[in-house]
Amino acid sequence: MTPSPGGAAAVRLQNATIGYGDVPIVTGVDLTIGHGEAVAILGSNGSGKTTLARGLLGLAPVLGGEVELLGAPVGRLRERGRVGYVPQRHTVSGAVPATVREVVSVGRLASLGLFRRLGATDRAAVSHAVAAVGLADRMDEPVASLSGGQQRRVLVARALAAQPELLIMDEPTAGVDAASQEALGDVLARVSAAGTTLLVVTHEAGPLTGVLTRAVVVDHGRISYDGPLSGAEPAAGQHDHCGPPEDLVVRGYRLDQPTVSARPAAGGR
Ligand SMILES: Nc1ncnc2c1ncn2[C@@H]1O[C@H](COP(=O)(O)OP(=O)(O)O)[C@@H](O)[C@H]1O
Ligand SMILES: [Mg+2]
Repeated sequence: MTPSPGGAAAVRLQNATIGYGDVPIVTGVDLTIGHGEAVAILGSNGSGKTTLARGLLGLAPVLGGEVELLGAPVGRLRERGRVGYVPQRHTVSGAVPATVREVVSVGRLASLGLFRRLGATDRAAVSHAVAAVGLADRMDEPVASLSGGQQRRVLVARALAAQPELLIMDEPTAGVDAASQEALGDVLARVSAAGTTLLVVTHEAGPLTGVLTRAVVVDHGRISYDGPLSGAEPAAGQHDHCGPPEDLVVRGYRLDQPTVSARPAAGGR
């Protein structure tokens, strides 16, 4: 694995509080993720997983403490292409009838200067990323013609095309068909073996149990477990609000039922 400049962790949060406006959602989080780790961020709906991921990316404000990504304070990382992000969204939306190639090419833009055009290296990276998610034969088809699961794979390919050191994915397997889940598991296994740090937000680690090794469980905005994925059964009594205990085993970790958060969501959505 390539040591990073200065050997800094891929992700480091110290007593971090992340929220919206001035409402803290994720509070007092200490978390260090080393380069090359493959980590699942687990927890029930509304526990703060997405907010945590968005805080890392500078998309939700850090209200307190410290957050560092690849050794740089949040929002200060100069090479944006070093971090890939697949947001929590099921499909590619938008009225523009973009092809798979076009959408994935966008992944190269972060590492290009403004007004620079895609070169041979970029085109090769795009082809490689599309092949990695098993969609090489769909390259020039409109994304809108693909299944929801395939569209998720296109978004993963867009992130992979930038060849990021750190890949953050929010619910990549949610609403995804079995074939796409398997394709995703395979590509993440390869990317992880190549040294990329993976941070996968999910409420369902099942499809990725072979890839992800460490679990961080978020509960009401706090980390309630941090350890091997295989041991991520919540401590007794901690999760009684979010479902029967037998739902909480990691294989097939499913907490699909929306749970009402105890937290007031200031300003609505
Ligand atoms: N943009 C926002 N503004 C205010 N509150 C929000 C916003 N997004 C999410 N929240 C609140 O933050 C809490 C955690 O949400 P989220 O991070 O999306 O949880 P998860 O990803 O674990 O389902 C919820 O109570 C939600 O209502
Ligand atoms: Mg979420």
